Amino acid sequence: MILGIAGSLRRGSYNGALLRAIAELAPETVELEIASIHGIPLYDGDVETGSGIPAVVSALKDRIASCDALLLVTPEYNNSLPGVFKNAVDWLSRPPNDIPRVFGNRPVALCGATPGPGATNFAQAAWLPVLRALGVRPWLGRILAVPTASKVFDEAGVLIDDKVRERARAFIAGFAEFAAGTK
Ligand code: FNR
Repeated sequence: MILGIAGSLRRGSYNGALLRAIAELAPETVELEIASIHGIPLYDGDVETGSGIPAVVSALKDRIASCDALLLVTPEYNNSLPGVFKNAVDWLSRPPNDIPRVFGNRPVALCGATPGPGATNFAQAAWLPVLRALGVRPWLGRILAVPTASKVFDEAGVLIDDKVRERARAFIAGFAEFAAGTK
C-alpha cells in the first residue's frame, strides 16, 4: 500500500487535488490510501515532554510504518517547503529512536502543484535534506511538478489536463515499481 499525504490544510488545495488524481491514476494492482495532516498541533517540546506524542501524530506514524511506500505531495511557500507540512513531519520524526520504524529505508516520492509558474521545483528540492535526515529511500526516477494549477484542475479539483494526467499516471506507475522492488 502506498500512503499519500498532501501538505496543505486548504479545502480547495491543488496538492490535495493532485493526490486524489494520482490515487485514481495508479495501476489497478496498486492500492493508494490518502492520509491527512489535519489536527497536528504545532511542535512544542514541552508538550512532548509533558504529555508525549499527540494521538493524531501517533496514529499517522503507525499508518506510515505500515505502508510500503510514502508519497509526499508538497505545496511551495516562499521558494521552499511549507511550514505546516514540515511541522507535521517534525512531529512524525519524534522520538528520534522511532524514526527507523516509521521512515527507515521506506520508499518515498515527492510531487507537487502550484498556481504559479515554478511548478514546486524549489519545494521538492528543499525536502531532500529532510528525507536524508529521516533515512528514507527516495525515488528520483521521474519529476511530477505541476505549474499553473488553476488551469490543470477545475473548480471541483478534478484534473482536466491530459498531458498532466499522463505524466501523473507514469509517475505513480514508476514509483509503484520502485516500491515493489521491480525497478
Ligand atoms: C505561496 N505560493 C507560492 N507558490 C509558488 O509556486 N512559489 C512560492 O514560492 C510560493 N510562495 C507562497 C508563500 C505563501 C506564504 C503562500 C501562502 C503561498 C502560492 C501557493 O503555491 C498556493 O497558495 C497554492 O495554492 C498552495 O497549495 P495548495 O494549498 O493549493 O495545495
